[in-house]
Amino acid sequence: MINFKIVDSYDEIGVLASKMVAEIISKNSNPVLGLATGSTPIGLYSNLIKLYNEKKLDFSKVSTVNLDEYVGLEEDNPQSYKYFMNENLFSKVNIDIKNTFLPNGAAENLLEEAKRYENILESFENIHVQILGIGSNGHIGFNEPFNELNLYTSIVDLKKETIDANSRFFEDSSMVPRKAISMGIKSILRADKIILMAYGESKAKAIEYLANDKISTDVPASFLKLHKDVHIIVDKEAAKYLK
Ligand code: GLP
Repeated sequence: MINFKIVDSYDEIGVLASKMVAEIISKNSNPVLGLATGSTPIGLYSNLIKLYNEKKLDFSKVSTVNLDEYVGLEEDNPQSYKYFMNENLFSKVNIDIKNTFLPNGAAENLLEEAKRYENILESFENIHVQILGIGSNGHIGFNEPFNELNLYTSIVDLKKETIDANSRFFEDSSMVPRKAISMGIKSILRADKIILMAYGESKAKAIEYLANDKISTDVPASFLKLHKDVHIIVDKEAAKYLK
């Protein structure tokens, strides 16, 4: 079931999501968080850091698994998602870096790496929550619209619109990797709870589709409708077409 929550601003998305994640961290002895990158979750991470600094949150028992990584970027590349996570969360809280997992996009054998990563996901009895952003084309992780979607962690080709959208983080669009390694739809649906956040008008069409009673591989996020506990937190612009 999908629960929609419309808030006034980007900042409020982060505050609300951080309350939900903080509760999960506090009530589990070994919390496992599925994390995402992009501009959307930065507000969530800064609120979690704030709670940690106020001594209201302890990350010492937290493990994390990330959705995806660009193929070909070493982890010390500032555009890599590993670097992003260190910068925006891991280096700012008392998490044990050994308990943080991302797919390695610089692995020599990428198919082996995808299998290795899926095994890591399976090694956790529970992933207590999966954080998601959404592409304006409806992608989650790097599961792009296509006639087929991957169930498990796979190597994927990025669509032109995703390369263009993500080029704002690179010097120019020719530097955006064309491939990524991403959790599949079933890997994502394994989490006990899913929190998807979106802000801005560019996400409004994708969010509108999530409110109907259909699923389509053209909108990969629509597969979240098969999950029993999904929370979508959006600002007014992203909620523009919601009735
Ligand atoms: C990338 C990531 C997604 C993210 C999306 C949206 O493609 N792989 O996980 O949801 O970007 O990014 P933003 O939050 O910056 O709009």
